[in-house]
Amino acid sequence: MSDSKDIYVLPGDGIGAEVMAPAVAVMQAAAELSGCRLQVTEGLVGGVAIDATGEPLPEATLAAAQAADAVLLGGVGGPKWDDLPMTQRPEKGLLGLRQGLGLFANLRPALLFGPLAAASSLKPELVADLDILIIRELTGGIYFGEPRGVEQRDNERVGFNTLVYSESEIERIARVGFDLAQKRNRRLCSVDKANVLEVSQLWREVVNRVHSDYPDVELSHMYVDNAAMQLVREPKQFDVIVTGNMFGDILSDVAAMLTGSLGMLPSASLAASGVGLYEPVHGTAPDIAGRDLANPLATILSVAMMYRYSLGMAEAADRIEAAVASCLAEGYRTADIDDGNGRKRVGTRAMGELVLARL
Ligand code: IPM
Ligand code: MG
Repeated sequence: MSDSKDIYVLPGDGIGAEVMAPAVAVMQAAAELSGCRLQVTEGLVGGVAIDATGEPLPEATLAAAQAADAVLLGGVGGPKWDDLPMTQRPEKGLLGLRQGLGLFANLRPALLFGPLAAASSLKPELVADLDILIIRELTGGIYFGEPRGVEQRDNERVGFNTLVYSESEIERIARVGFDLAQKRNRRLCSVDKANVLEVSQLWREVVNRVHSDYPDVELSHMYVDNAAMQLVREPKQFDVIVTGNMFGDILSDVAAMLTGSLGMLPSASLAASGVGLYEPVHGTAPDIAGRDLANPLATILSVAMMYRYSLGMAEAADRIEAAVASCLAEGYRTADIDDGNGRKRVGTRAMGELVLARL
């Protein structure tokens, strides 16, 4: 492969910049090994963008992201910006990117690397070989629904948000779910709250209709409260889960913890066509920022997803994932995944170097 790819890098806040440096080094090295040239540009989003420009998502950032082949993001947010009004918070930068780039499909795999079974809060036998994929709708639902706000009604203030999904929004995320289930173990579980919410009844009806195009996939439905319970009771019953924006936000954190650490989980956010965005599921961890403690593996694994889903370079993705697996098998651990059984404790930079050396 001789072509060149434009990668737009947004380190963001907190540990974002720290985990991004090793991830970019791994990305460059993997490109070289595959004979691909990368054009890497860096930009501002979140709190650092607020500090520099007054806005969490400067116009230039959205434009550059739109023009890129893929976007790699660290994280946004931190206590410094917590008191800003809702529309000016760092999180708005991320939400604006998702909306502006039409990134409606968020893929959050929860995959347990064998050597980390003891780092999970569940018994090792419950999580051994765990490999589930949560697909979260990312540009609709209650996160973006209108009307929203806080207003004065009679003698008190009332806060309100709107949970809304159209048939076409449900159908397109359902198709992503069925398509990906077909490439895995052909089981799709759609999670909703159809015993209470009209939106969920429509969701279920549309998912059932789309199912007729995928007769080889086994479809089940589950209420979200039960799904949360089943995820910690018997997580291996799931293959692919598809759900709305807020349920997916919550369930993906639960699923993440099954694998031992949020520090291990990558994610991909995809549009119908165009640029994809890749980011670790974890946040900006202000408490450990700047101390070389953060686990860079979630961001490094996000680079692997980028190669697989946006750049069509599966061999580069495999190479990165294998290098990460080797580091873990050899006993290297950042603090978040160290179970204390005589592992080789390393920091952010050293973990990055170890992955690089094993590509
Ligand atoms: C996530 C995060 C974001 C979300 C925040 C930072 C806006 O929790 O990506 O899961 O709620 O979507
Ligand atoms: Mg979240």
